[in-house]
Amino acid sequence: MNNRIGIFGTSGMAREAGDIAWASGLEPVYVARDESELQAWNFSGPVILEKEIERYADLPFVIGIGENSIRKAIAERFRDLLRFSNLIHPSATFGRGQREVLEACKGSIVAAGARLTSGIVIGDFCLFNQNVTVAHDCVLGSYVHVAPGANLSGNVHLKDGCWVGAGAVVNQGSNKEKRVVGENTVVGSGAVVIEDCEADAVYAGVPAKRIK
Ligand SMILES: CC(C)(COP(=O)(O)OP(=O)(O)OC[C@H]1O[C@@H](n2cnc3c(N)ncnc32)[C@H](O)[C@@H]1OP(=O)(O)O)[C@@H](O)C(=O)NCCC(=O)NCCS
Repeated sequence: MNNRIGIFGTSGMAREAGDIAWASGLEPVYVARDESELQAWNFSGPVILEKEIERYADLPFVIGIGENSIRKAIAERFRDLLRFSNLIHPSATFGRGQREVLEACKGSIVAAGARLTSGIVIGDFCLFNQNVTVAHDCVLGSYVHVAPGANLSGNVHLKDGCWVGAGAVVNQGSNKEKRVVGENTVVGSGAVVIEDCEADAVYAGVPAKRIK
């Protein structure tokens, strides 16, 4: 098959990205960091080592790793060598013009059932996991991960490196004042964010409070 895509990672997230590739008519080629990761690989499908990557430099790549800081490190390490593309499950849906906005980014993954409406600004290397919703006029920085089933209401601003946990909700901001989640902040699973969140923090609960 000529239509192949390289996927960094060998964990569950990488295999889920592989499923998105298959659903999109692409054959995944997984990339293990080193021999130890290769030995732990117990899944079918071609897998190569990072040190062999130059031989595959003609493929498009995505990074199937949920941890934002690791995704960022890989993106920066291979920025000049590889072409990072987006990977969008065929069942993801978009408001008018929004798919084009996403396709103008690089390195993002959109899983099955995700819905992004309209007027949304997106950075690079974001992960929109299964069944997330992102409503109108949100602004997402780079290296953001929206975990399965999380909902961002309208006018939410997630700064670079945020991770919104599974099933969490971020309530809406307004046109004048977005609801802001600061850089590298984690919102725990099931949380409901009703106020702005500081940077480099962990929030959890309903309503969400800073716990770290
Ligand atoms: C919030 C979170 C990041 C905290 O992880 P942590 O830093 O390891 O924190 P701990 O497990 O030490 O828990 C700290 C406290 O927060 C509480 N807590 C942890 N997660 C919570 C959550 N989601 N909601 C409410 N309270 C939570 C713990 O009970 C503990 O309370 P205590 O101090 O009274 O005992 C983590 O629990 C979480 O929710 N991660 C997201 C998981 C997810 O969405 N996965 C999807 C993968 S794609």
